[in-house]
Amino acid sequence: MPALGVGTNRWNASASNQARFRDTLAAALDAGMGFFDTAEVYSFGRSERAIGTAARADGRPLLVASKFAPLPHRLTATQFESALEKTLVRLGRDSLDLHYLHFPYSPVALSTWMRAMASAVRAGRIRAVGISNCSPAQMRKAADALARYDIPLAANQVQYSLLHRKPESDGVLGACQRMDVALVAYRPIAGGAVGTGSRKSSGRSALADTLREVAAAHGASATQVALAWLLARDDHVIAIPGATRPEHVRENAGALSLALSEEEFAAIDRASAPTPSR
Ligand SMILES: NC(=O)c1ccc[n+]([C@@H]2O[C@H](COP(=O)([O-])OP(=O)(O)OC[C@H]3O[C@@H](n4cnc5c(N)ncnc54)[C@H](OP(=O)(O)O)[C@@H]3O)[C@@H](O)[C@H]2O)c1
Repeated sequence: MPALGVGTNRWNASASNQARFRDTLAAALDAGMGFFDTAEVYSFGRSERAIGTAARADGRPLLVASKFAPLPHRLTATQFESALEKTLVRLGRDSLDLHYLHFPYSPVALSTWMRAMASAVRAGRIRAVGISNCSPAQMRKAADALARYDIPLAANQVQYSLLHRKPESDGVLGACQRMDVALVAYRPIAGGAVGTGSRKSSGRSALADTLREVAAAHGASATQVALAWLLARDDHVIAIPGATRPEHVRENAGALSLALSEEEFAAIDRASAPTPSR
């Protein structure tokens, strides 16, 4: 997997947007970011369909991750298999490079869904298994369930950005390091806010100032610096900034070649730390 992918939860496949999605997908492949993150629930399947349409028009191979939503009425492996089949049909593919359990809240045990995922790996429908929004304890449960089938847990997708550093304090980043699991960071640019400092609070505007200073020194943008910081934080981090425009993908790809000095990394680290409450 490349260290940066493209989030597609706003790819809604309306005819008027499809040409833009095709250009966005092509820009990502040109820039070495040919890894697309989708889910069956994004725009009720329209995001998966939009990726499939754009990929067919482009013709180049790409990596795709999608997610199974364990909704309360979904209780059996057969329902999982049927949902996966529909995902593959929408994407126009025979297999997924990575398939996640979208969230752990389900009347069904995590191990049951992992067993269904393992069967799909054996059947050649999934290449790697991930989970999303899971705690370190849930990561351990999922990894143990998969280990019975000699399948490693590949990823835990959680929210992680300079404005949301919870994975550092709740143990998820540490668990990813110890278990050698990718931490796939969603909302890595806080919906676009991380580069502009549009949120108010002294800690956050200090962050925007620091990002701008570092960006100016590199002839880069603040968003690129924010993404480069996440990637430099740990080798296990893969970020999937959402984008529906080719210019955003091209800008974000610049983070892949942006090397921060130790001083710059530390200055951003200090500026983004939460302001202590008095
Ligand atoms: N597992 C989960 O539960 C979960 C939850 C939320 C999201 N996700 C995944 O994570 C992905 C990323 O999260 P997200 O899309 O919510 O938030 P995000 O990546 O932090 O931000 C996406 C927003 O930033 C804008 N943007 C992208 N590049 C930019 C740039 N260089 N400069 C300024 N603005 C820029 C995008 O605009 P344009 O659209 O105009 O390009 C979009 O409005 C999603 O697409 C989805 O695949 C997963």
